[in-house]
Amino acid sequence: MSKTVHYLKDYQPPAYLVSTTELHFDIGNSHTAVTAHLAVVPQQPGAPLVLNGSAELVTVAVNGETITNYALSEEKLVLENVPAVPFDVTIKTLVKPSENKSLMGLYESGGNLFTQCEPEGFRKITFYPDRPDVMSVFTTTITADAARYPVLLSNGNKTGSGTLSDGRHWAKWHDPFAKPSYLFALVAGNLVPTCSSYTAGSGREIAIEFYTTAADQDKTAFAIESLKHAMRWDEQRFKLEYDLDTYMVVAVGDFNMGAMENKGLNIFNTKYVLADSRTATDADFAAIESVIAHEYFHNWTGNRVTCRDWFQLSLKEGLTVFRDQEFSADRISHATCRIENVALLRAHQFPEDAGPTAHPVRPESYEEMNNFYTMTVYEKGAEVVRMYHTLLGEAGFQKGMRLYFQRHDGRAVTCDDFRAAMAEANGINLDRFALWYSQAGTPVLDTAGRLNVGAGRFELTVKQHIPPTPDMAEKQPMTMPLKAALFDAESGTPVAFRRPGSSAELTETVLLITEAEQTFYFDNVHQNVIPSLLRGFSAPVHLHYPYTDEELAVLLAADTDPFARWEAGQTLYRRAAAANEAALAQGLPLPEHPKLLEAVAYVLAADLNPAFQAMLLEVPSESELWADRANIQPLLVHQAREALLDTIAAHFMPQFLSLNQKAACAEAQADPAVRYEYSPERAGWRTLRNTCRAFVLRADPAHIDTVAAKYEEMAQNMTHEWGILSAINHNESPVRNQLLNAFAEKFRNDALVMDKYFTLIAASRRADTPAQVQAALSHPAFSLENPNKARSLLGAFSRNVPHFHAESGAGYAFIAEKVMEIDRFNPQSAARLVQAFNLCNQLEPRRRSLMQSQLQRIQNQSGLSKDVAEIVGKILA
Ligand code: TRP
Ligand code: ZN
Repeated sequence: MSKTVHYLKDYQPPAYLVSTTELHFDIGNSHTAVTAHLAVVPQQPGAPLVLNGSAELVTVAVNGETITNYALSEEKLVLENVPAVPFDVTIKTLVKPSENKSLMGLYESGGNLFTQCEPEGFRKITFYPDRPDVMSVFTTTITADAARYPVLLSNGNKTGSGTLSDGRHWAKWHDPFAKPSYLFALVAGNLVPTCSSYTAGSGREIAIEFYTTAADQDKTAFAIESLKHAMRWDEQRFKLEYDLDTYMVVAVGDFNMGAMENKGLNIFNTKYVLADSRTATDADFAAIESVIAHEYFHNWTGNRVTCRDWFQLSLKEGLTVFRDQEFSADRISHATCRIENVALLRAHQFPEDAGPTAHPVRPESYEEMNNFYTMTVYEKGAEVVRMYHTLLGEAGFQKGMRLYFQRHDGRAVTCDDFRAAMAEANGINLDRFALWYSQAGTPVLDTAGRLNVGAGRFELTVKQHIPPTPDMAEKQPMTMPLKAALFDAESGTPVAFRRPGSSAELTETVLLITEAEQTFYFDNVHQNVIPSLLRGFSAPVHLHYPYTDEELAVLLAADTDPFARWEAGQTLYRRAAAANEAALAQGLPLPEHPKLLEAVAYVLAADLNPAFQAMLLEVPSESELWADRANIQPLLVHQAREALLDTIAAHFMPQFLSLNQKAACAEAQADPAVRYEYSPERAGWRTLRNTCRAFVLRADPAHIDTVAAKYEEMAQNMTHEWGILSAINHNESPVRNQLLNAFAEKFRNDALVMDKYFTLIAASRRADTPAQVQAALSHPAFSLENPNKARSLLGAFSRNVPHFHAESGAGYAFIAEKVMEIDRFNPQSAARLVQAFNLCNQLEPRRRSLMQSQLQRIQNQSGLSKDVAEIVGKILA
């Protein structure tokens, strides 16, 4: 198969628009017959009408007359000599949902039918200009067997329904808002609604309906409440109200991603809907609240204003992630949510930006669009939006949002349109900010400071460079906000300063970085200070400043910005891990890390918010430690990190035990009656308990027997149960297997909890993990066809450093095999798994060549999908 690359520079406006789209789905036993009536409006009369499609084509008619003089090739239907004035096209296709394991287009899961159309799934259903800049008003009629498919749903409002002969029935749906085909959705099946309602700020009553299987109905309450919180928040903070009378959410067990924002009919992975405290962890609850909000927020940022083309994906995703991050921060805590966002970015987006698939927030080209739902487009995209917010302030940002909606409501637009709205609403020029959309790679800021005693000022020099990425060697300096403050070098108290040309006394400022090298002055400073830089992580960059360990300890204890405090600790951990690594490489004894241990002692003794305290005890992951390095020895990095954790655990065993005790009391006291329910406060105490418990079990593996004895009592709540199992998961004792087996038995009928079981199996450092993973593949609850299962077991295994990177190469061979197996039916899922090999070219030579031979094996596979081919091609390039 020859490869087709799509380029942003080739964008052409559509030659034909579609004003209305009428769809008829006739659902049969094995086939669904689809009829599509398109009211076509020529924009460039005389041009051929090109419709995308890969469904089985039955007939084509123009203005009611069947035609045969069309061309059909490469998933395109081309009609020449169509009328120059508005005309109708009618297309009949046949699809087989039960054979569709790609989970794109119309597919079957658990006997019910679902669609997933973003980005290019609609073309698997019918032939259509399947591109987001063609927006149409959809009317959908569904007919099906009433017993097998009692519920028939599509976008918008139900405008009719009835029964037919032969036990069949029908429903008709109309969505008054013009939308691109990627937002179309249909659901048919044996599901039950859980209903609620929401009174909008305007007084309008909005019906809420969550559709699940009958068995799952008792786990929807939290998601429904989350939706209401999101609706209220968007009214209050963004002045945005919901626009239809009904909001429907459908949960499905087989789904490629988290959820999908189809207009009025969101479709969700069950993982982001179903929860109770016995089966879901506090982290699961927080994720549900965040994903429910994310899809809801898309109604304005994505649906009302959509993307002109798929290169602009971050226009809706970066902005909507920023919105959901702000929502969670307002609900939970700005400090801990911000730190979590940064930790996620560093662990996953920084490596992407430093690897073979690096791409800008707005990619310039793609082979398979599904490969571009990335950490860069979502998370770095959200950081770019956050920088507008930092530069303009909340009021200026909201002014920009208002202008954006005024100008573009009902339209398909670009990232440049968003930037223009932000700039013009605030009367400033943001042209140079455009580089954030076109240059990949994580910028590096090298900074240095000195006290100029004579001038009475602190001088900060900032140099920036952006590393080359496969798509671009030379880069231009970028514009970004660098938030900064000063602290007294001994006491850690804030030091006031003035900016040149101003008499205002400040304790924090935003420096505007625009050049490759700049010097900034903090006037009226006469004492030794420690600069606090990149406060709140004000730009997605690596920042280096030559702090001493003592200075970092001062910032950790005294900085007024929680991110900066956490970052001071992270830098100490990174230095300690690097020192361990150097010692291990040379066969020298491990260093003792007195400064780090002092800092940890401070953290353990300090009176802190428990979630924040737990974060201060988190050591950066291997993927973060090696993100931008070459010649990586994975096991050495891993051993260095493990040794650091061992040192901390051994040194502070009594403190971890007593802090765990303190947290247990506080959790119980938080609200004795509803002790196990999710709340941010109780979640904080439980996180801290799990952190302490992991250190205790690390220092004293025999403690597993104490834990096992108390297991039943603790296991009334999944956060505790998960915490215990994670903490004992690496233990070689047979008790570990007994506890895991009991867990699998207890939850054998709960698919989402079984995902957790498979993750534990695959993440263990135990010597027998490869054998246990093999056995798990034939566990009755496992299925390679279910993306949640594949990710839980294989995704987790690919992140298990000692086993995936095993000396023998067996870990690589195993994952390669599974990639090829999954690729035969679900390319999107396979393409995600194959990115475990992204590290290839950064590895030491032996492992690099082991990985390369597995990648070649995949590349030589016949019938390889373009999804996997694109990723493998980039790694081997
Ligand atoms: N637009 C969705 C979101 O971010 C995600 C999405 C994109 C998706 N493509 C998908 C979901 C394919 C499932 C399958 O909210
Ligand atoms: Zn999204």
